[in-house]
Amino acid sequence: MLYYGADYYPEHWPEARWPLDARLMHEAGFNLVRLGEFAWSRLEPRPGRHDFSWLDRAIDLLASHGLRVVLGTPTASPPPWLMARHPEAYLVREDGLRATYGHRRCYCPSSPAYREHTHAIVGALARHYGANSNVIAWQIDNEFGSRCYCDHCRQRFQEWLRARYGTLDALNQAWGTVFWSQVYSDWAEIPVPVATGGVPNPALALDYRRFMSDLYVEYQALQIEEIRRHSHGQMITHNLMGFGYEDLNYYDLARPLDVVSWDNYPRTQWAAAEPGDGVLAALGHDAMRGLKRQGFWVIEEQSGPAGWQMLGQPPRPGEIRLWAYQAVAHGADAVVYFRWRSCPFGTEQFWYGILDHDGTPRRRYEEVKRTGGEFARLSQALTGTGVRAEVALLHCYDSRFAFQVQPGHPEFRYATHALDLYRALHRRNVAVDVVPPTADLTAYRLVVAPALHLVTDEVAANLARYVGAGGVLLLTARSGVKAANNAMVELPLPGLLAGLAGVEVEECDPLPAGVGRPVAWEPPMVGHAGTGQATVWCEALAPCGAEVVARYASGPYAGRPAAVRHRYGRGQAVYLGTCGDSALLQALADWLLSQAGVRSPLVTPEGVEATIRQASDGRQLLFVLNHADEPREVALDGAWRELISDQPAPSLLRLEAKGVAILQKA
Ligand code: GAL
Repeated sequence: MLYYGADYYPEHWPEARWPLDARLMHEAGFNLVRLGEFAWSRLEPRPGRHDFSWLDRAIDLLASHGLRVVLGTPTASPPPWLMARHPEAYLVREDGLRATYGHRRCYCPSSPAYREHTHAIVGALARHYGANSNVIAWQIDNEFGSRCYCDHCRQRFQEWLRARYGTLDALNQAWGTVFWSQVYSDWAEIPVPVATGGVPNPALALDYRRFMSDLYVEYQALQIEEIRRHSHGQMITHNLMGFGYEDLNYYDLARPLDVVSWDNYPRTQWAAAEPGDGVLAALGHDAMRGLKRQGFWVIEEQSGPAGWQMLGQPPRPGEIRLWAYQAVAHGADAVVYFRWRSCPFGTEQFWYGILDHDGTPRRRYEEVKRTGGEFARLSQALTGTGVRAEVALLHCYDSRFAFQVQPGHPEFRYATHALDLYRALHRRNVAVDVVPPTADLTAYRLVVAPALHLVTDEVAANLARYVGAGGVLLLTARSGVKAANNAMVELPLPGLLAGLAGVEVEECDPLPAGVGRPVAWEPPMVGHAGTGQATVWCEALAPCGAEVVARYASGPYAGRPAAVRHRYGRGQAVYLGTCGDSALLQALADWLLSQAGVRSPLVTPEGVEATIRQASDGRQLLFVLNHADEPREVALDGAWRELISDQPAPSLLRLEAKGVAILQKA
């Protein structure tokens, strides 16, 4: 079943308005609302004095209009009384300053007092709603993140380190504290990496990120435990922030959840203001699906112009519908818009929802409603379908954290490099699972590993096993450089991957900003595709059993190998010694897809993506999505039926600007 709905804050409006909201939601085809997420001061106005009566009435009213509820725990925004009683529960920022009241996410996730109050409010809610059949799921808190540097976190960090390293000798050894005379003789001496400490030891800085990530997982677990104790089979989720967010290890955070949710704002995203070809949202969806390798929810889908101090761009006509279909095409089983109605007061006055501040339905509501009607008709066809990918993109949080600590180049960003590689696959409409480097890779024909900087024995063995058994693997520049303790390996690079890649990196040349170096393909790539430029980072490669695939055509490394292919076991590993512009990455991706035998489900013009949802009996739904501002035509092979219109599809399918088609073999 497909869930469809909005995030609703009934506490923001007089109760007399609620029935009209519920009716409009029902007419829009909604069957789900998220409630309660920031309502702590309404749920517990005085310490220990709960008032759930208004929420009971809201849930009953919504249920009478066929709407089920995801109930948010309110812990992202504590009431003033709580923080006034426990000033020590405020988070301390990286600059060493303690947060003060006025915003949200101001709490320290390790604070004993905050945890006690969390326990109490979540427990009370779970006891009250755990058996309510109108509440089908819980959302824990809101968008976990923000590192804290308080004294209590410091103490917890020291305990965490003790558990990880056992002895101070082991820690001193692993961290290389002999450098600059930092040898610790007592656990209590170990600092947290606040800005006043200067540039920290990279080992300490990485471990602090790992620790903070674990701390949020622990804080989430406390809430999960409390809910599970009283809940009768309700699902538990948390709203994550897609691929762009990089301060928590989302694989760890997702593990105890029943379903992953995420917040998708295509016109406010991390790498571009202009959604263009939809690639950013596509990567976000695939990354969130990959966390548990199962269907996921979009629990906040952009429905209006969005901003806090500045107003962002509104979704163009057709985009609300297009983005909802794109989510489903990538495996979403719920699309929930943020937010039902724009709030006239508070920090998010400019963050528009489906309805404007005056509560009047206009074109955004009409588009949501049209989509709702279509989803209701498609629900049956979608049941039992999901995305099945033959290609995996490895997402390594340890490498990402290590690059945060030492980017190494002002233009290098792990996420951007991964996006560039993903874009080349997305352009060919092949489905991609975004999985961790320790994942079981046997199901994939092609694995793409962007800048696998930090490599453990376990990861090296996993990749060798995968290629040995016949897989095709792409490794890129800056791989295998670091060990688990974030120290440089004392091995020829790419370190633990050198044998698998059949190559040694002889030296590297970080390029000046904006400079590219042309590369020339060698057999077996010659004649396969166009050329391209090396960018950001150039490594001169010395093949050790690998054949040369590309050479630098100019610059200090002219004539030296830029990419190699190594046959290993029954498979092959390709090592690219640079980041690469889009032409280079497209040519390489096309060649790799052909080497791996991965076929594109549909050839589409620029701006149009195609994705398949498939049932276990092989039944396929082919989603064709036009992100462009103009109409596009797509040539179809064979006879197809278009499911939204329920008509046979013409062999030259025409999609309006922002248009959508769902095709099934006739
Ligand atoms: C999201 C958050 C929402 C809302 C929205 C607009 O990141 O989960 O609660 O704040 O942004 O700012």
